[in-house]
Amino acid sequence: MIRVLGIESSCDETAVAIVTGERAILAQAIASQEAEHGPYGGVVPEIAARAHAERLAPLVERVLDEAGCGLGDCDAIAATAGPGLIGGVMVGLVTAKALAMASDVPLMAINHLEGHALSPRLADPSLRFPYALLLVSGGHCQILRVAGPGRYRRLATTIDDALGEAFDKTAKILGLGYPGGPAVERLAQEGDASAVDLPRPLVGRQEPHFSFAGLKSAVLRAKQAQGSADYSDADIAASFQQAALDCILDRTRRALREMDDVTALVVAGGVAANRTVRAGLESLAGEFALPFTAPPLPLCTDNAAMIAWAGVERLAAGFAPDPLDLKARPRWPL
Ligand code: KG4
Ligand code: ZN
Repeated sequence: MIRVLGIESSCDETAVAIVTGERAILAQAIASQEAEHGPYGGVVPEIAARAHAERLAPLVERVLDEAGCGLGDCDAIAATAGPGLIGGVMVGLVTAKALAMASDVPLMAINHLEGHALSPRLADPSLRFPYALLLVSGGHCQILRVAGPGRYRRLATTIDDALGEAFDKTAKILGLGYPGGPAVERLAQEGDASAVDLPRPLVGRQEPHFSFAGLKSAVLRAKQAQGSADYSDADIAASFQQAALDCILDRTRRALREMDDVTALVVAGGVAANRTVRAGLESLAGEFALPFTAPPLPLCTDNAAMIAWAGVERLAAGFAPDPLDLKARPRWPL
């Protein structure tokens, strides 16, 4: 039975997990840095790197303990090697290299985006390649055709902000603090999604990409004009969420017309935790008579089980381990 230890440290979650080839998460631990970054309204890279360095080794010990195994029982140590905040990525990757060297276990360098892209298969054994993937996180907004580990075709990306970034900026404008996505989703439940007239950038356009900068600016203008208008913060949140959803549905519908061989529509990444987004995509999948899959909420936001699982998938697909002099990559397209 394949068993992989995964390490994730590319943003503000320090996470470790052990996952098997049979999709069992034997143990996992995650230390969030919300308290450290909250006062700054966003992730401070230097603080993040230091926090990863302090927390990672004890988390590895705890997870091995919980799983009741030693490093030598693992078939690989998989670590995020990019893209992400380089200080944090280096902490995770160097730790993984040291563990690999000390225990003589192979190293698998994982692209964080591949972790998100394959995460739905960890939870759903019936999900087969190729599938259409909407990857929506704090740093990325892409539509991919996923044909297997290492086999991705990108059909669309954002020309400015990522969707999670737009949620986070909306949260900031509304004074909801950090992290913003879940707070916007909560507030939106109490609002009227048609109360504020917001733009839907690129909707209906032939070019395949996303754009959220104009929507974010419109949210700022709506907040500034609130005094003389008749809508609440909840109305702004709900209207923003609806506009964002309309954009991703239009763009994904366009991309699906170009992918006639996919087995499912899948969403992954932090914004996939949003219930309105999930419901909208589920009905879009219905339009194309496709099944819809979204990972369970804890697998949507950054975690180490998805990194370990990507290691399992790569091992099973015959990818060679990575050399110990491999470099961390702040940018690394799939
Ligand atoms: O995948 P992730 O944890 O980290 C990156 O790889 O970027 O995604 C984090 C992003 C943040 O922008 C966060 O605000 C957003 O996902 N997010 C959400 C929700 N939960 C997290 N956005 C909307 N609704 C949510 N429930
Ligand atoms: Zn992520």
